[in-house]
Parts: sequence; structure tokens; C-alpha cells
Amino acid sequence: MQKTILNNGVEMPLIGYGVFQISPEICTRCVREALDVGYRSIDTAQAYYNEEAVGTALKESGIAREDIFLTTKVWISNAGEEKAAKSIDESLRKLQTDYLDLVLIHQPFGDYHGTYRAMEKAVKQGKIRAIGLSNFYNDRFIDVAETYEIKPAVLQLETHVFCQQKAMRDLVNEYGTKLMAWAPLAEGKNNLFNDSILSEIGEKYGKTAAQVALKFLVSEDIIIIPKSVHKERMAENLAIEDFSLIEREMQIIRTMDTGHTLIADFSNPALAKFLLHYED
Ligand SMILES: NC(=O)c1ccc[n+]([C@@H]2O[C@H](COP(=O)([O-])OP(=O)(O)OC[C@H]3O[C@@H](n4cnc5c(N)ncnc54)[C@H](OP(=O)(O)O)[C@@H]3O)[C@@H](O)[C@H]2O)c1
Repeated sequence: MQKTILNNGVEMPLIGYGVFQISPEICTRCVREALDVGYRSIDTAQAYYNEEAVGTALKESGIAREDIFLTTKVWISNAGEEKAAKSIDESLRKLQTDYLDLVLIHQPFGDYHGTYRAMEKAVKQGKIRAIGLSNFYNDRFIDVAETYEIKPAVLQLETHVFCQQKAMRDLVNEYGTKLMAWAPLAEGKNNLFNDSILSEIGEKYGKTAAQVALKFLVSEDIIIIPKSVHKERMAENLAIEDFSLIEREMQIIRTMDTGHTLIADFSNPALAKFLLHYED
């Protein structure tokens, strides 16, 4: 499994399995299957309501804890130093583990400074190995990155062939922060799975459009966490280490960038209001 090295020296698999929108009822089965086909990195969140199911799958699998890279995210309602600290302990309990490999602040709202301080403390207490942010753009990312001793190891943003986040990659590079792509398959938007450019490139290697789209991201040193509830697709999304895209193909795929998100536009006031009232 290909790995990347975070700015604190921690190694993280470049490919992981995301469990957003996987209900607790099927999440244990899905994570067991993902581990079965070879995933060793799992991305969950407090707001996915499936941390317990992920914890059960990890326990049942019998795989040693140190062979798994486990990520969760602190939700807005747990923002603030005290609440965030409690919520991290709660995530540890639900995930049935005594440490987390990576914890991210899920959204740039509420008292995220307090949350970051709680995460820094948890690192010092040995409860977390690396910390980072999710959905923090420009000024909000800089606000945290410039303020704290521990620089964000990871920034998770909507990133796919149609939204390649070049400017944000350049910005986070200044802090040694790695970009982690959420929705690396663009949730299938813009007909990604049948895209003619990706399919044509894939034909040469016997790979699908999805595999080419994912390979493009890891070739740019972007961490990916594709989600699927189907075991054969989990395996398909993981089977991208046995081919390489040549520079001309990388250049062609770079031209697919629209320069904007397709799923979550954080400059849209309606999205901020929706997220702030998500649990109401
Ligand atoms: N930080 C954040 O705010 C945030 C937001 C969104 C997501 N995330 C994280 O990122 C992960 C991935 O993002 P995502 O789930 O939104 O989108 P995604 O991984 O881009 O796409 C998932 C969709 O693609 C389908 N799919 C997956 N592999 C396929 C394949 N090989 N062929 C055809 N269809 C395929 C899945 O359907 P089936 O399941 O039916 O196969 C599902 O509908 C999440 O699970 C979560 O961990 C984070």
C-alpha cells in the first residue's frame, strides 16, 4: 500500500475507505469488506453516526490496531476546548481504540480555535497521532495554520478531476500540509464514471474511468478516500497501484479542472446556514 509522510513524520496510506452516508446498519459489513479487499485506512466522522459500527468492524477483523490508519472528525456541535476534548474521548470509546491516527475539525464553524487547542492537547496526551482540518479555505486555513504550534498535517477538501484544488494545494504546501480528497469520484457527478477522456485513457491500461480519476489524484500526492457499499467497487477503487499515467495523460486530465466545487460551495451563505443547523 502506497503511503505518504505527513509533516510530523507519521505515515498515512494514500488510499483509504470513506464511510459517509453509510448507515450504521450496513457500515460494519462494508468496513469488514473494505478491510478484506485490502484497505487499511478508514475515514469516518462524529456526524456520520457510524463510529460504533466502524469500531466493531475493526475489532471483528482481528487486524492489529497499528496496521490500521483511523481518521475521525469533530462536528460543529462539539466545538470548543472542553466539548471537543470530551467528544474525542467519546469517539475513542465508540471506535474501541485508545488512540486515533488523525482527527480533523469537520467544518470551519463554531469555536474551532478551542477545538484545535483540544486536539493539540490530545496529541500531547498520546490520544491522537496527527491533526488537521476539513473544509477550511484560504483565510480560515491560514487563521489556524499561523496560530498553533502543531501545523495541520492534513486538509480535507472536495477534490476530484473536475475540481483539482491547485491554489489550495499551493497554499497548504507552505505548511507541509497534505491535501486529502473528499468525494474523489465527484460522487459520480458530471457523468464521471462514463467520462470519455478518462475512459479512453483507461482503455490503454485495462482500467475504468473511476480508476483513472483516482490514479490522477494519488499521482499528484493527494490522499483519497473513495466510498462504495459494493465490495467489487471497493476492490476496483483500490486496484490502481499497478499502472502509471504518463505526463501527457496527466496534462490532459489537468484540463478537466473547472476551478470550482460541484458538491459543497463554502462561499455560499446557504451552505453555512445548513451546516450550522445540521443537528437542529
Ligand atoms: N470532510 C467532508 O466534509 C466530507 C464530505 C463528503 C465526503 N467525505 C469523505 O469522503 C469520502 C468519499 O466521498 P463521497 O462518499 O462523498 O463520494 P465519492 O467517493 O466520490 O463517490 C461515492 C459514490 O460513487 C459510487 N461509486 C464508488 N465507486 C464506484 C465505482 N468504482 N464505479 C461506480 N460507482 C462508484 C458510490 O456508489 P455505491 O456506494 O453504491 O457503490 C457512491 O455513490 C466519504 O465517504 C467521506 O469519508 C468528507
